[in-house]
Amino acid sequence: MKIGLLGHGVVGSGVRKIIDDGATWEVRELAVKRILVKDESELTDPRCTLNFDEILNDPEIEIVAECMGGLEPAHTFAKKALEKGKYVVTSNKKMLATYCEDLFETAVRNGVTVHYEASCGGGIPWMAALDRTRRVDDIDSFRGIFNGTTNYILERMKKEGKDFDEMLAEAQKLGYAERDPSDDIDGYDVKYKVSLSCVKAFDTLQDINDITTFGIRNIRREDLEYCAANSLTCKLIGTGEFHGDYISAFVIPMFLKSDDVFSNIPLNFNAIESDSKTLGAAAFVGQGAGSLPTAHAVVQNLVDIWKNQDPEINDKAVRPVDNQAHTGVYYIRTAKHAAFADIIDRNVSEHAFITKKISLMQAADACAASGDEKLFIAEVAQ
Ligand SMILES: NC(=O)c1ccc[n+]([C@@H]2O[C@H](COP(=O)([O-])OP(=O)(O)OC[C@H]3O[C@@H](n4cnc5c(N)ncnc54)[C@H](OP(=O)(O)O)[C@@H]3O)[C@@H](O)[C@H]2O)c1
Repeated sequence: MKIGLLGHGVVGSGVRKIIDDGATWEVRELAVKRILVKDESELTDPRCTLNFDEILNDPEIEIVAECMGGLEPAHTFAKKALEKGKYVVTSNKKMLATYCEDLFETAVRNGVTVHYEASCGGGIPWMAALDRTRRVDDIDSFRGIFNGTTNYILERMKKEGKDFDEMLAEAQKLGYAERDPSDDIDGYDVKYKVSLSCVKAFDTLQDINDITTFGIRNIRREDLEYCAANSLTCKLIGTGEFHGDYISAFVIPMFLKSDDVFSNIPLNFNAIESDSKTLGAAAFVGQGAGSLPTAHAVVQNLVDIWKNQDPEINDKAVRPVDNQAHTGVYYIRTAKHAAFADIIDRNVSEHAFITKKISLMQAADACAASGDEKLFIAEVAQ
């Protein structure tokens, strides 16, 4: 089966390598016919082209593997490929989470499918596990450490008592964090992954803007000192919960108890757990990023399409996100303490307090109303 590869960077070059190496008979059934690159300096392989139309209009190419990243032209190229009756595999969570409804509708209309194993959890077979679980069970909820960069920063801050800015700079030096780290540290990367996990786990499409999202940009050493004094560990957690007519979906730092399975997930690893009626809690841990682990997940999708073995169904229902249903107790550190008078249960330092048990929406609304852009909020495990 002939593949057109879009992008020849970290993930794309890994996909090309795994397919060219052809370690198994299944992978040897695949061939990369064309590779779209952006710059003449990247024309390093005779299959490289600067012209997307050479891939789009090649009838031999049945699958387009999009590994370019960004919203455009990734979205337009994926859509054009579907309209030409080509399958699309993508590692690009931002693009797919943003344009899921449009691309899925286009896929259904053209009798093909969109596949996205690598978009969530890198090399961890999370999407495949959800598909497999759902053959027997409905998924009730999932939660996970979906972002290795923030896990790395939080772990080093905890173990070495370092400041956030210092650890972020080190993560950037090691290539874990982008020069513009906003997607990681503001929780957006996790938001995209939570959205796509809801698509897979619950068969729902949702507006990503409705996913309540808090990141770790404002975390300070004193927040982790509170955790240490109370035997808690801070992790950035993405969650999805199915409630029938609606879903809950949110991203928030959590202060976890030491016996929580996620408390000891090290450095840049990812860990994701689903909960369903007969299987119960099932957790998956592994490399959430990296060239070959992520490319492995892309190639798994390609093999599934070739074998016609992927139960991917792009026909989904739109369901609203409502985070009123999720209640918790929150740690908030803010210079605008007085703005939270109604929800404070007890103060834990000059600027930090623990809330009464309230809904996530109530906590989020209070944070927004305070106007304090430097506040830090975390949910405290009960
Ligand atoms: N890296 C990971 O471990 C990982 C893990 C999971 C998911 N992902 C996702 O996978 C996608 C790709 O990530 P990556 O790390 O491989 O990024 P990358 O190393 O920057 O590779 C992307 C490549 O696509 C090229 N490109 C961009 N626009 C193009 C265009 N219009 N035409 C042709 N080529 C174009 C880029 O060229 P220029 O450099 O010249 O712009 C670059 O070589 C992203 O959506 C990312 O979120 C990555």
